[in-house]
Amino acid sequence: MATTCEGVVVTETTQAEISAEISASHAGYEARVAAGAVRLDAPFLDFPPYRSSLLRHPTKNPKLVDPETIELASPAFGHRDVAAAESDLTLQHAGEPLGERMSVTGRVLDGEGRPVRNQLVEIWQANSSGRYIHQRDQHPAPLDPNFTGAGRCLTDDDGNYRFVTIKPGAYPWKNHTNAWRPAHIHFSVFGTAFTQRIVTQMYFPGDPLFPLDPIYQSIPDAGARDRLIATYDHDLSSPEWSLGYRWDIVLTGSRATWFEPEGSGA
Ligand SMILES: [Fe+2]
Repeated sequence: MATTCEGVVVTETTQAEISAEISASHAGYEARVAAGAVRLDAPFLDFPPYRSSLLRHPTKNPKLVDPETIELASPAFGHRDVAAAESDLTLQHAGEPLGERMSVTGRVLDGEGRPVRNQLVEIWQANSSGRYIHQRDQHPAPLDPNFTGAGRCLTDDDGNYRFVTIKPGAYPWKNHTNAWRPAHIHFSVFGTAFTQRIVTQMYFPGDPLFPLDPIYQSIPDAGARDRLIATYDHDLSSPEWSLGYRWDIVLTGSRATWFEPEGSGA
């Protein structure tokens, strides 16, 4: 540990130490599975390599509330509430954002593979330099005046969503020395009420930061981690225009997409 001139305690943990902790945790998980334990689709909520998870993971069982009461004030989304242009993050300003133009599309499905229709899907992301428009993001990468990094759409009758955006850059964070998040897009699926909202992250194939990232690695099961990685689909790429990725979101069942516990995520 060290203390900055502002009195902030910072960690000096190295990537090698974090990577060793990840390997030890996964080896323990695989040993338990080999001994008969059930495979987990969920992440470890208190995953020591992800330092802040130790302080903010839930320590008590969820408090049950009457959903009919809490959802009285909940939103209901319709096609008049979401404009088609909100799904194109490259059209929100006077000029074109910098970076690699891309589309991402997929289906929201239930555990039986049925489409989930009329779902509000929201995304937020860093710009191509790995910078968010947020006061807490002060790392020295440029903001893009032509990119806000947020969009939304509704799924169609086949459960399809589609966004046009810019591929986000990797960005540093404070978990340990030289910690970098793999490029990712945050996704939220609202269900029909605030209390049903789920949040997750989509990653890009072949990212060299996967084995080093304690958030991605907090999911102990390799299959569950893989399901967060989009597939590059050349048929979705547009000539002279953009690259295309496909990523499905599965809400329940053995192929379910991993969802973040409330209050987490970087
Ligand atoms: Fe992020």
